Amino acid sequence: MKSPTKICCIGAGYVGGPTMAMIASKCPDIRVDVVDLNAERIAGWNSEELPVYEPGLYEIVSEARGKNLFFSTDVEEHIVDADIIFVAVGTPTKTYGMGAGRAADLCYIEGAARMIAKVAKGPKIIVEKSTIPVRTAEAMRTILSANSGDGEFQVLSNPEFLAEGTAISDLQNPDRILIGGERNPKGDAAVEALVSVYNQWIPRERILTTNLWSSELSKLVANAFLAQRISSINSISALCEATGADIDEVARAIGTDSRIGPKFLKASVGFGGSCFQKDILNLVYLCEHFGLPEVSAYWESVVKMNDWQKERFSTKIVKTLFNTVRGKRIAIWGFAFKKDTNDTRESASIYICRDLLMEGANIAVYDPQVPESLMHADLRYVGVPQETIDQQFTVCNSCEEAADQSHGVAVLTEWDEFKEADFSKVYENMFKPAFLFDGRDILDHDGLRDQGFDVYAIGKG
Ligand code: NAD
Ligand code: UDX
Repeated sequence: MKSPTKICCIGAGYVGGPTMAMIASKCPDIRVDVVDLNAERIAGWNSEELPVYEPGLYEIVSEARGKNLFFSTDVEEHIVDADIIFVAVGTPTKTYGMGAGRAADLCYIEGAARMIAKVAKGPKIIVEKSTIPVRTAEAMRTILSANSGDGEFQVLSNPEFLAEGTAISDLQNPDRILIGGERNPKGDAAVEALVSVYNQWIPRERILTTNLWSSELSKLVANAFLAQRISSINSISALCEATGADIDEVARAIGTDSRIGPKFLKASVGFGGSCFQKDILNLVYLCEHFGLPEVSAYWESVVKMNDWQKERFSTKIVKTLFNTVRGKRIAIWGFAFKKDTNDTRESASIYICRDLLMEGANIAVYDPQVPESLMHADLRYVGVPQETIDQQFTVCNSCEEAADQSHGVAVLTEWDEFKEADFSKVYENMFKPAFLFDGRDILDHDGLRDQGFDVYAIGKG
Protein backbone atom coordinates (compact mmCIF):
# COMPACT_ATOMS: atom_id res chain seq x y z
CA MET A 1 0.00 0.00 0.00
CA LYS A 2 1.40 3.41 -0.98
CA SER A 3 2.13 5.98 1.73
CA PRO A 4 -0.92 8.13 2.32
CA THR A 5 -0.77 11.61 0.81
CA LYS A 6 -4.35 12.70 1.33
CA ILE A 7 -6.44 12.41 4.47
CA CYS A 8 -10.05 13.45 4.91
CA CYS A 9 -11.79 13.68 8.27
CA ILE A 10 -15.59 13.65 8.52
CA GLY A 11 -16.56 15.72 11.57
CA ALA A 12 -14.89 19.00 12.59
CA GLY A 13 -15.70 18.89 16.30
CA TYR A 14 -13.66 18.77 19.50
CA VAL A 15 -11.87 15.66 18.20
CA GLY A 16 -11.79 16.07 14.41
CA GLY A 17 -10.47 19.67 14.47
CA PRO A 18 -7.56 19.39 16.93
CA THR A 19 -6.55 15.86 15.85
CA MET A 20 -6.34 16.74 12.17
CA ALA A 21 -4.55 20.03 12.91
CA MET A 22 -1.89 18.02 14.74
CA ILE A 23 -1.52 15.51 11.87
CA ALA A 24 -1.25 18.37 9.36
CA SER A 25 1.36 20.19 11.41
CA LYS A 26 3.48 17.06 11.93
CA CYS A 27 3.10 15.63 8.41
CA PRO A 28 3.73 18.47 5.92
CA ASP A 29 3.64 16.05 2.97
CA ILE A 30 0.08 14.97 3.69
CA ARG A 31 -2.90 17.10 2.65
CA VAL A 32 -5.59 17.06 5.35
CA ASP A 33 -9.20 18.08 4.62
CA VAL A 34 -11.56 18.37 7.59
CA VAL A 35 -15.19 18.37 6.46
CA ASP A 36 -18.45 18.95 8.27
CA LEU A 37 -22.10 19.49 7.33
CA ASN A 38 -22.29 22.29 9.89
CA ALA A 39 -21.44 25.43 7.87
CA GLU A 40 -21.17 27.63 10.98
CA ARG A 41 -18.55 25.32 12.49
CA ILE A 42 -16.52 25.26 9.29
CA ALA A 43 -16.70 29.05 9.03
CA GLY A 44 -15.37 29.16 12.60
CA TRP A 45 -12.42 26.89 11.74
CA ASN A 46 -11.62 29.18 8.80
CA SER A 47 -11.74 32.31 10.98
CA GLU A 48 -9.64 33.81 13.77
CA GLU A 49 -12.23 32.68 16.37
CA LEU A 50 -12.01 28.90 16.32
CA PRO A 51 -15.17 27.06 17.40
CA VAL A 52 -13.18 25.06 19.97
CA TYR A 53 -11.29 26.81 22.79
CA GLU A 54 -8.18 24.83 23.62
CA PRO A 55 -4.79 26.20 24.75
CA GLY A 56 -2.27 26.01 21.89
CA LEU A 57 -4.86 25.05 19.26
CA TYR A 58 -4.95 28.40 17.47
CA GLU A 59 -1.17 28.30 16.97
CA ILE A 60 -1.09 24.92 15.25
CA VAL A 61 -4.22 25.62 13.17
CA SER A 62 -2.93 28.94 11.91
CA GLU A 63 0.48 27.41 11.11
CA ALA A 64 -0.96 24.69 8.84
CA ARG A 65 -4.24 26.21 7.58
CA GLY A 66 -4.15 27.02 3.88
CA LYS A 67 -0.88 25.05 3.46
CA ASN A 68 -1.83 21.42 4.01
CA LEU A 69 -4.84 21.82 6.33
CA PHE A 70 -8.25 22.77 4.94
CA PHE A 71 -11.73 23.04 6.46
CA SER A 72 -14.72 22.67 4.17
CA THR A 73 -18.40 21.79 3.87
CA ASP A 74 -17.76 19.96 0.57
CA VAL A 75 -17.93 16.61 2.29
CA GLU A 76 -18.36 14.38 -0.76
CA GLU A 77 -15.73 16.15 -2.86
CA HIS A 78 -12.98 15.46 -0.34
CA ILE A 79 -13.95 11.86 0.32
CA VAL A 80 -13.52 10.94 -3.35
CA ASP A 81 -9.76 10.88 -3.59
CA ALA A 82 -8.60 10.58 0.04
CA ASP A 83 -6.36 7.62 0.91
CA ILE A 84 -7.48 7.60 4.54
CA ILE A 85 -10.89 8.77 5.76
CA PHE A 86 -11.26 9.43 9.48
CA VAL A 87 -14.78 9.33 10.89
CA ALA A 88 -14.97 11.67 13.91
CA VAL A 89 -18.71 12.32 14.09
CA GLY A 90 -20.65 12.41 17.35
CA THR A 91 -21.94 9.24 19.01
CA PRO A 92 -24.26 10.66 21.69
CA THR A 93 -26.44 8.60 24.00
CA LYS A 94 -29.68 7.59 22.29
CA THR A 95 -32.68 9.60 23.43
CA TYR A 96 -35.35 7.52 21.69
CA GLY A 97 -36.40 3.94 20.98
CA MET A 98 -34.48 0.79 21.90
CA GLY A 99 -31.69 1.42 24.40
CA ALA A 100 -32.79 5.04 24.98
CA GLY A 101 -30.72 6.69 27.72
CA ARG A 102 -27.92 4.15 27.40
CA ALA A 103 -27.01 2.88 23.94
CA ALA A 104 -24.91 5.00 21.59
CA ASP A 105 -26.81 6.67 18.77
CA LEU A 106 -25.00 5.48 15.66
CA CYS A 107 -27.04 7.46 13.13
CA TYR A 108 -24.13 9.84 12.34
CA ILE A 109 -21.70 6.93 11.94
CA GLU A 110 -24.08 5.21 9.55
CA GLY A 111 -24.65 8.48 7.67
CA ALA A 112 -20.90 8.90 7.23
CA ALA A 113 -20.45 5.27 6.08
CA ARG A 114 -23.22 5.59 3.49
CA MET A 115 -21.74 8.82 2.18
CA ILE A 116 -18.30 7.22 1.82
CA ALA A 117 -19.79 4.21 0.02
CA LYS A 118 -21.66 6.48 -2.37
CA VAL A 119 -18.76 8.61 -3.57
CA ALA A 120 -15.45 6.90 -2.75
CA LYS A 121 -13.32 5.74 -5.67
CA GLY A 122 -10.52 3.20 -5.37
CA PRO A 123 -9.17 1.54 -2.22
CA LYS A 124 -9.73 3.39 1.03
CA ILE A 125 -8.77 3.05 4.66
CA ILE A 126 -11.69 4.07 6.88
CA VAL A 127 -10.66 4.96 10.42
CA GLU A 128 -13.13 4.97 13.30
CA LYS A 129 -12.00 7.93 15.40
CA SER A 130 -15.36 8.29 17.15
CA THR A 131 -15.97 6.27 20.30
CA ILE A 132 -18.32 3.46 19.34
CA PRO A 133 -19.69 0.16 20.72
CA VAL A 134 -17.70 -3.01 20.07
CA ARG A 135 -18.22 -4.50 16.62
CA THR A 136 -19.28 -1.23 14.97
CA ALA A 137 -16.51 -1.81 12.43
CA GLU A 138 -18.42 -4.87 11.27
CA ALA A 139 -21.55 -2.79 10.65
CA MET A 140 -19.50 -0.17 8.79
CA ARG A 141 -17.87 -2.80 6.63
CA THR A 142 -21.24 -4.29 5.76
CA ILE A 143 -22.72 -0.91 4.79
CA LEU A 144 -19.64 -0.01 2.77
CA SER A 145 -19.42 -3.24 0.81
CA ALA A 146 -23.18 -3.46 0.17
CA ASN A 147 -23.36 0.06 -1.24
CA SER A 148 -20.16 0.73 -3.08
CA GLY A 149 -19.28 0.24 -6.70
CA ASP A 150 -15.59 -0.43 -7.17
CA GLY A 151 -14.41 0.60 -3.70
CA GLU A 152 -12.24 -1.68 -1.59
CA PHE A 153 -12.37 -0.74 2.10
CA GLN A 154 -10.31 -1.57 5.15
CA VAL A 155 -11.90 -0.43 8.40
CA LEU A 156 -9.56 0.40 11.30
CA SER A 157 -10.31 1.42 14.87
CA ASN A 158 -8.17 4.29 16.17
CA PRO A 159 -9.87 5.70 19.28
CA GLU A 160 -8.89 9.14 20.52
CA PHE A 161 -7.67 9.56 24.11
CA LEU A 162 -7.20 13.34 24.23
CA ALA A 163 -8.76 15.21 27.15
CA GLU A 164 -10.22 18.65 26.58
CA GLY A 165 -8.20 21.51 27.99
CA THR A 166 -4.98 19.58 27.39
CA ALA A 167 -5.77 18.31 23.88
CA ILE A 168 -2.71 19.76 22.19
CA SER A 169 -0.15 18.34 24.61
CA ASP A 170 -2.07 15.04 24.65
CA LEU A 171 -1.91 14.88 20.85
CA GLN A 172 1.71 15.99 20.72
CA ASN A 173 2.88 13.52 23.31
CA PRO A 174 0.28 10.77 23.84
CA ASP A 175 0.77 7.89 26.31
CA ARG A 176 -0.11 5.62 23.42
CA ILE A 177 -1.78 5.47 20.02
CA LEU A 178 -4.09 2.50 19.59
CA ILE A 179 -4.83 1.02 16.19
CA GLY A 180 -7.03 -2.03 15.70
CA GLY A 181 -7.35 -3.80 12.38
CA GLU A 182 -8.31 -7.06 10.77
CA ARG A 183 -5.71 -9.73 11.34
CA ASN A 184 -4.95 -10.65 7.71
CA PRO A 185 -2.43 -9.30 5.14
CA LYS A 186 -4.73 -6.52 3.85
CA GLY A 187 -5.70 -5.51 7.39
CA ASP A 188 -2.04 -5.51 8.44
CA ALA A 189 -1.11 -3.31 5.47
CA ALA A 190 -3.83 -0.81 6.37
CA VAL A 191 -2.65 -0.74 9.99
CA GLU A 192 0.93 -0.10 8.83
CA ALA A 193 -0.24 2.77 6.58
CA LEU A 194 -1.84 4.48 9.59
CA VAL A 195 1.18 3.67 11.78
CA SER A 196 3.35 5.45 9.19
CA VAL A 197 1.34 8.66 9.74
CA TYR A 198 1.61 8.70 13.55
CA ASN A 199 5.20 7.48 13.46
CA GLN A 200 6.19 10.85 11.96
CA TRP A 201 6.17 12.22 15.53
CA ILE A 202 5.36 9.34 17.89
CA PRO A 203 7.91 6.59 18.66
CA ARG A 204 6.92 3.21 17.24
CA GLU A 205 6.90 1.52 20.65
CA ARG A 206 4.09 3.83 21.77
CA ILE A 207 1.87 2.81 18.84
CA LEU A 208 -0.07 -0.27 19.94
CA THR A 209 -1.72 -2.50 17.39
CA THR A 210 -4.51 -4.94 18.26
CA ASN A 211 -7.43 -6.67 16.67
CA LEU A 212 -10.45 -4.49 15.86
CA TRP A 213 -12.64 -5.53 18.77
CA SER A 214 -9.93 -5.06 21.43
CA SER A 215 -9.30 -1.54 20.17
CA GLU A 216 -12.98 -0.59 20.10
CA LEU A 217 -13.59 -2.02 23.57
CA SER A 218 -10.43 -0.52 25.11
CA LYS A 219 -11.67 3.02 24.54
CA LEU A 220 -14.90 2.41 26.50
CA VAL A 221 -12.98 0.61 29.23
CA ALA A 222 -10.35 3.36 29.57
CA ASN A 223 -13.06 5.97 30.11
CA ALA A 224 -14.95 3.69 32.51
CA PHE A 225 -11.80 3.15 34.63
CA LEU A 226 -11.02 6.88 34.72
CA ALA A 227 -14.57 7.82 35.69
CA GLN A 228 -14.61 5.05 38.28
CA ARG A 229 -11.65 6.63 40.06
CA ILE A 230 -13.50 9.94 40.29
CA SER A 231 -16.67 8.31 41.61
CA SER A 232 -14.56 6.34 44.10
CA ILE A 233 -12.83 9.44 45.47
CA ASN A 234 -16.13 11.37 45.46
CA SER A 235 -17.82 8.61 47.46
CA ILE A 236 -15.02 8.91 50.02
CA SER A 237 -15.41 12.72 50.06
CA ALA A 238 -18.82 12.22 51.70
CA LEU A 239 -17.24 9.95 54.30
CA CYS A 240 -14.52 12.53 54.96
CA GLU A 241 -17.16 15.18 55.62
CA ALA A 242 -18.89 12.82 58.07
CA THR A 243 -15.72 11.85 59.93
CA GLY A 244 -13.45 14.89 59.96
CA ALA A 245 -10.93 13.46 57.49
CA ASP A 246 -9.62 15.60 54.60
CA ILE A 247 -10.13 14.23 51.07
CA ASP A 248 -6.98 15.85 49.65
CA GLU A 249 -4.89 14.28 52.41
CA VAL A 250 -6.51 10.89 51.83
CA ALA A 251 -5.95 11.20 48.05
CA ARG A 252 -2.28 12.03 48.63
CA ALA A 253 -1.85 9.19 51.09
CA ILE A 254 -3.35 6.56 48.80
CA GLY A 255 -1.94 8.07 45.59
CA THR A 256 1.66 7.65 46.74
CA ASP A 257 1.14 3.88 46.58
CA SER A 258 2.61 3.25 43.14
CA ARG A 259 -0.04 0.60 42.49
CA ILE A 260 -2.77 3.24 42.88
CA GLY A 261 -0.95 6.30 41.48
CA PRO A 262 -1.71 9.99 42.10
CA LYS A 263 -3.71 10.99 39.01
CA PHE A 264 -7.49 11.36 38.72
CA LEU A 265 -8.03 11.45 42.48
CA LYS A 266 -9.28 15.03 42.77
CA ALA A 267 -12.66 15.09 44.49
CA SER A 268 -15.18 17.36 42.80
CA VAL A 269 -18.79 18.32 42.44
CA GLY A 270 -18.99 15.50 39.89
CA PHE A 271 -17.43 14.64 36.55
CA GLY A 272 -18.86 16.11 33.36
CA GLY A 273 -17.84 16.17 29.73
CA SER A 274 -19.20 14.57 26.62
CA CYS A 275 -17.51 11.23 27.17
CA PHE A 276 -17.53 9.63 30.63
CA GLN A 277 -21.24 9.25 31.26
CA LYS A 278 -22.05 8.45 27.64
CA ASP A 279 -19.33 5.82 27.34
CA ILE A 280 -20.12 4.11 30.65
CA LEU A 281 -23.81 3.94 29.75
CA ASN A 282 -22.80 2.47 26.44
CA LEU A 283 -20.70 -0.16 28.28
CA VAL A 284 -23.66 -0.84 30.59
CA TYR A 285 -25.90 -1.39 27.59
CA LEU A 286 -23.38 -3.69 25.92
CA CYS A 287 -23.08 -5.82 29.07
CA GLU A 288 -26.85 -6.15 29.27
CA HIS A 289 -26.98 -7.04 25.60
CA PHE A 290 -24.44 -9.80 26.14
CA GLY A 291 -26.37 -11.18 29.17
CA LEU A 292 -24.05 -9.85 31.89
CA PRO A 293 -26.39 -8.01 34.31
CA GLU A 294 -23.92 -8.09 37.25
CA VAL A 295 -21.19 -6.45 35.17
CA SER A 296 -23.66 -3.92 33.88
CA ALA A 297 -24.90 -3.00 37.40
CA TYR A 298 -21.29 -2.66 38.59
CA TRP A 299 -20.46 0.00 35.97
CA GLU A 300 -23.82 1.75 36.24
CA SER A 301 -23.04 2.51 39.89
CA VAL A 302 -20.21 4.82 38.72
CA VAL A 303 -22.79 7.06 37.02
CA LYS A 304 -25.22 6.79 39.95
CA MET A 305 -22.51 7.94 42.37
CA ASN A 306 -21.75 10.90 40.10
CA ASP A 307 -25.43 11.92 39.98
CA TRP A 308 -25.59 11.64 43.77
CA GLN A 309 -22.52 13.86 44.20
CA LYS A 310 -24.13 16.62 42.12
CA GLU A 311 -27.45 16.36 44.02
CA ARG A 312 -25.58 16.34 47.32
CA PHE A 313 -23.91 19.63 46.42
CA SER A 314 -27.17 21.41 45.44
CA THR A 315 -28.82 20.11 48.61
CA LYS A 316 -25.89 21.33 50.71
CA ILE A 317 -26.31 24.85 49.32
CA VAL A 318 -30.06 24.94 49.99
CA LYS A 319 -29.73 23.49 53.51
CA THR A 320 -26.88 25.83 54.42
CA LEU A 321 -28.83 28.88 53.25
CA PHE A 322 -31.39 28.12 55.98
CA ASN A 323 -33.43 25.73 53.81
CA THR A 324 -34.55 28.35 51.34
CA VAL A 325 -32.88 30.02 48.38
CA ARG A 326 -36.06 31.54 46.99
CA GLY A 327 -35.32 35.08 45.80
CA LYS A 328 -31.68 34.85 46.94
CA ARG A 329 -28.83 35.61 44.57
CA ILE A 330 -26.27 32.81 44.29
CA ALA A 331 -23.04 33.33 42.35
CA ILE A 332 -21.90 30.45 40.20
CA TRP A 333 -18.22 30.55 39.24
CA GLY A 334 -17.72 28.36 36.19
CA PHE A 335 -20.07 26.75 33.69
CA ALA A 336 -17.63 24.67 31.57
CA PHE A 337 -17.21 21.02 32.60
CA LYS A 338 -13.53 21.64 33.42
CA LYS A 339 -11.06 24.48 33.04
CA ASP A 340 -9.45 25.52 29.75
CA THR A 341 -12.38 24.51 27.55
CA ASN A 342 -15.55 26.19 26.29
CA ASP A 343 -17.34 22.81 26.28
CA THR A 344 -20.28 22.47 28.67
CA ARG A 345 -21.56 19.03 27.76
CA GLU A 346 -22.78 17.24 30.92
CA SER A 347 -21.16 19.93 33.06
CA ALA A 348 -22.07 19.62 36.75
CA SER A 349 -22.80 23.35 36.63
CA ILE A 350 -25.87 22.79 34.42
CA TYR A 351 -27.46 20.50 36.99
CA ILE A 352 -26.58 22.63 40.03
CA CYS A 353 -27.98 25.74 38.29
CA ARG A 354 -31.13 23.82 37.33
CA ASP A 355 -31.71 22.61 40.90
CA LEU A 356 -31.19 26.08 42.36
CA LEU A 357 -33.34 27.83 39.74
CA MET A 358 -36.14 25.36 40.40
CA GLU A 359 -35.81 26.21 44.14
CA GLY A 360 -36.45 29.86 43.17
CA ALA A 361 -32.86 31.17 43.45
CA ASN A 362 -31.53 33.98 41.28
CA ILE A 363 -28.36 32.73 39.62
CA ALA A 364 -25.50 35.05 38.64
CA VAL A 365 -22.94 33.11 36.65
CA TYR A 366 -19.46 33.91 35.41
CA ASP A 367 -17.38 31.74 33.08
CA PRO A 368 -14.44 33.09 31.07
CA GLN A 369 -15.20 31.05 27.93
CA VAL A 370 -18.81 29.89 27.76
CA PRO A 371 -21.24 32.14 25.83
CA GLU A 372 -24.61 33.04 27.33
CA SER A 373 -26.57 31.46 24.44
CA LEU A 374 -24.97 28.07 25.18
CA MET A 375 -25.79 28.34 28.89
CA HIS A 376 -29.44 29.07 28.03
CA ALA A 377 -29.60 26.12 25.62
CA ASP A 378 -28.07 23.78 28.23
CA LEU A 379 -30.58 24.85 30.88
CA ARG A 380 -33.52 24.47 28.52
CA TYR A 381 -32.26 21.00 27.61
CA VAL A 382 -32.48 19.88 31.24
CA GLY A 383 -36.01 21.24 31.58
CA VAL A 384 -35.66 24.80 32.87
CA PRO A 385 -38.39 26.94 31.22
CA GLN A 386 -37.10 29.91 29.20
CA GLU A 387 -39.27 32.20 31.35
CA THR A 388 -37.38 31.06 34.47
CA ILE A 389 -34.06 31.62 32.71
CA ASP A 390 -35.12 35.11 31.62
CA GLN A 391 -36.25 36.08 35.12
CA GLN A 392 -33.72 34.32 37.37
CA PHE A 393 -30.49 33.77 35.41
CA THR A 394 -27.91 36.51 34.79
CA VAL A 395 -24.52 36.21 33.10
CA CYS A 396 -21.76 38.43 34.54
CA ASN A 397 -18.35 39.60 33.34
CA SER A 398 -16.31 38.73 36.41
CA CYS A 399 -16.32 36.66 39.60
CA GLU A 400 -16.68 39.81 41.68
CA GLU A 401 -19.68 41.04 39.69
CA ALA A 402 -21.43 37.67 40.07
CA ALA A 403 -20.82 37.67 43.82
CA ASP A 404 -22.12 41.22 44.31
CA GLN A 405 -25.22 41.21 46.59
CA SER A 406 -25.21 37.42 46.73
CA HIS A 407 -25.94 35.12 49.67
CA GLY A 408 -23.53 32.46 48.48
CA VAL A 409 -20.76 31.75 45.97
CA ALA A 410 -20.32 28.28 44.46
CA VAL A 411 -17.11 27.35 42.62
CA LEU A 412 -18.05 24.73 40.03
CA THR A 413 -15.19 24.85 37.50
CA GLU A 414 -11.52 24.96 38.52
CA TRP A 415 -10.51 27.98 36.34
CA ASP A 416 -7.18 29.31 37.64
CA GLU A 417 -8.43 32.90 37.70
CA PHE A 418 -10.93 32.05 40.45
CA LYS A 419 -8.01 31.63 42.85
CA GLU A 420 -6.97 35.22 42.08
CA ALA A 421 -10.40 36.79 42.70
CA ASP A 422 -10.56 39.91 44.87
CA PHE A 423 -11.95 38.13 47.93
CA SER A 424 -12.06 41.22 50.17
CA LYS A 425 -14.30 42.93 47.61
CA VAL A 426 -16.35 39.73 47.24
CA TYR A 427 -16.80 39.50 51.01
CA GLU A 428 -17.65 43.17 51.42
CA ASN A 429 -20.43 43.05 48.82
CA MET A 430 -22.08 39.80 49.93
CA PHE A 431 -24.91 39.34 52.40
CA LYS A 432 -23.72 37.94 55.74
CA PRO A 433 -23.07 35.22 56.64
CA ALA A 434 -21.07 35.09 53.41
CA PHE A 435 -21.27 31.45 52.34
CA LEU A 436 -18.69 30.00 49.97
CA PHE A 437 -19.11 26.49 48.50
CA ASP A 438 -15.94 25.16 46.91
CA GLY A 439 -16.97 22.33 44.58
CA ARG A 440 -13.42 21.94 43.28
CA ASP A 441 -11.31 22.37 46.41
CA ILE A 442 -9.10 24.97 44.76
CA LEU A 443 -9.32 27.85 47.23
CA ASP A 444 -7.39 28.61 50.42
CA HIS A 445 -10.15 27.68 52.86
CA ASP A 446 -8.36 28.68 56.07
CA GLY A 447 -7.43 32.08 54.61
CA LEU A 448 -11.01 32.65 53.49
CA ARG A 449 -12.36 31.72 56.93
CA ASP A 450 -9.94 34.24 58.44
CA GLN A 451 -11.43 36.87 56.11
CA GLY A 452 -14.89 36.06 57.46
CA PHE A 453 -16.31 33.62 54.89
CA ASP A 454 -18.34 30.62 55.98
CA VAL A 455 -16.73 27.91 53.84
CA TYR A 456 -18.01 24.50 52.77
CA ALA A 457 -15.61 22.44 50.67
CA ILE A 458 -16.04 18.98 49.15
CA GLY A 459 -14.60 16.27 51.37
CA LYS A 460 -13.31 18.54 54.13
CA GLY A 461 -14.54 17.28 57.48
P1 NAD B 1 -18.74 17.00 18.13
O1 NAD B 1 -20.22 16.91 18.28
O2 NAD B 1 -18.00 18.17 18.67
O3 NAD B 1 -18.38 16.91 16.56
C1 NAD B 1 -18.95 16.01 15.66
C2 NAD B 1 -19.15 16.72 14.32
O4 NAD B 1 -19.55 15.76 13.32
C3 NAD B 1 -20.24 17.80 14.32
O5 NAD B 1 -19.67 19.06 14.01
C4 NAD B 1 -21.24 17.34 13.25
O6 NAD B 1 -21.80 18.40 12.49
C5 NAD B 1 -20.36 16.44 12.37
N1 NAD B 1 -21.09 15.47 11.55
C6 NAD B 1 -22.03 14.58 11.93
N2 NAD B 1 -22.43 13.84 10.86
C7 NAD B 1 -21.71 14.27 9.79
C8 NAD B 1 -21.65 13.89 8.41
N3 NAD B 1 -22.39 12.90 7.91
N4 NAD B 1 -20.81 14.57 7.61
C9 NAD B 1 -20.05 15.58 8.08
N5 NAD B 1 -20.05 15.97 9.37
C10 NAD B 1 -20.88 15.31 10.22
O7 NAD B 1 -18.16 15.66 18.74
P2 NAD B 1 -16.70 15.42 19.39
O8 NAD B 1 -16.65 15.88 20.79
O9 NAD B 1 -15.67 15.87 18.41
O10 NAD B 1 -16.69 13.81 19.45
C11 NAD B 1 -16.62 13.03 18.28
C12 NAD B 1 -16.39 11.58 18.66
O11 NAD B 1 -15.13 11.47 19.36
C13 NAD B 1 -17.44 11.01 19.62
O12 NAD B 1 -17.64 9.66 19.31
C14 NAD B 1 -16.77 11.13 20.98
O13 NAD B 1 -17.24 10.17 21.89
C15 NAD B 1 -15.32 10.86 20.65
N6 NAD B 1 -14.36 11.47 21.57
C16 NAD B 1 -14.55 12.74 22.05
C17 NAD B 1 -13.60 13.31 22.90
C18 NAD B 1 -13.78 14.70 23.46
O14 NAD B 1 -13.00 15.08 24.32
N7 NAD B 1 -14.75 15.48 23.00
C19 NAD B 1 -12.45 12.60 23.23
C20 NAD B 1 -12.27 11.32 22.71
C21 NAD B 1 -13.23 10.77 21.88
C1 UDX C 1 -11.95 12.23 29.07
C2 UDX C 1 -10.73 11.31 29.11
O1 UDX C 1 -9.82 11.78 30.11
C3 UDX C 1 -10.06 11.28 27.75
O2 UDX C 1 -8.98 10.35 27.76
C4 UDX C 1 -11.07 10.87 26.71
O3 UDX C 1 -10.49 10.86 25.42
C5 UDX C 1 -12.27 11.79 26.72
O4 UDX C 1 -12.84 11.81 28.05
P1 UDX C 1 -12.35 14.85 29.15
O5 UDX C 1 -13.75 14.47 29.47
O6 UDX C 1 -12.08 15.82 28.07
O7 UDX C 1 -11.49 13.54 28.82
O8 UDX C 1 -11.65 15.47 30.48
P2 UDX C 1 -11.11 14.81 31.84
O9 UDX C 1 -9.88 15.49 32.22
O10 UDX C 1 -11.07 13.35 31.79
O11 UDX C 1 -12.23 15.26 32.89
C6 UDX C 1 -13.55 14.74 32.87
C7 UDX C 1 -14.31 15.25 34.07
O12 UDX C 1 -13.81 14.67 35.28
C8 UDX C 1 -14.23 16.76 34.26
O13 UDX C 1 -15.48 17.27 34.68
C9 UDX C 1 -13.19 16.91 35.36
O14 UDX C 1 -13.33 18.11 36.08
C10 UDX C 1 -13.50 15.69 36.21
N1 UDX C 1 -12.36 15.24 37.04
C11 UDX C 1 -11.21 14.82 36.44
C12 UDX C 1 -12.49 15.20 38.43
O15 UDX C 1 -13.54 15.56 38.99
N2 UDX C 1 -11.44 14.75 39.18
C13 UDX C 1 -10.27 14.32 38.61
O16 UDX C 1 -9.37 13.92 39.36
C14 UDX C 1 -10.16 14.36 37.20
